[in-house]
Amino acid sequence: MERLQKYLASCGVDSRRKCEELILSGKVKVNGIVIKDLGTKVTEKDEVLVNNIKVEKQEKLYYLLYKPEKIICSVKDEKGRKTVIDLIEEKEKIFPVGRLDYDTSGLLLLTNDGELSNMLTHPKKNVKKTYYAKIEGILLPNEIKALENGIILDGKKTKKADVKVRKIDKRNNKSYVEITISEGRNHQVKNMFNYFNHKVLKLKRIQYAFLDLKGMNIGEYRSLSIKEVKKLYNYVNNL
Ligand code: URA
Repeated sequence: MERLQKYLASCGVDSRRKCEELILSGKVKVNGIVIKDLGTKVTEKDEVLVNNIKVEKQEKLYYLLYKPEKIICSVKDEKGRKTVIDLIEEKEKIFPVGRLDYDTSGLLLLTNDGELSNMLTHPKKNVKKTYYAKIEGILLPNEIKALENGIILDGKKTKKADVKVRKIDKRNNKSYVEITISEGRNHQVKNMFNYFNHKVLKLKRIQYAFLDLKGMNIGEYRSLSIKEVKKLYNYVNNL
């Protein structure tokens, strides 16, 4: 027996919170009866309908993709451009966990597990993400300090970050920097460097929580192991 909203989320209908809204708005029927009570419990033997369509448990899929640049990070693109979903063969109802910009490469998770995705992208959960950035100009010590302690972007201070300069190319006036953040605001890394007028020329996500791209080539993907999925749940539950 499990709560209806949890059951719906595990069938891939939507996140648990969205499923609660569906229930409260009278869109869910159990064995032919509209249920609006969030305490209701069901088993797989019950017939559950959402908007009069039967929903069923589905196998959970988890992929780690090494996203190339120039690929849209969404399920569909209205202009018909290639999306990250097009890169995965078994694309049954999977979606990206969070976003990477069109011109950003690197580690992206894709899944049909709405519950895990919801937790990983929740603003209250500070999932660590590390990026490798090639930036215009030489990053100065006071700028590093400010980026680490927080700067004001869109009227809100960024959370603590970790910044490591990996290489300085004085001749070409470029810096190569590793930055770890625990937020997921839009274009956050680019905006953080832009704050000090360092245009980001290339950006790659090299780590997400404890996962990295070791052994992978650009455009490749792999399934997460059961161990890694469990570890991700543990990671996010302990944040
Ligand atoms: N920050 C950015 O600016 N872009 C990304 O794609 C990810 C983080």
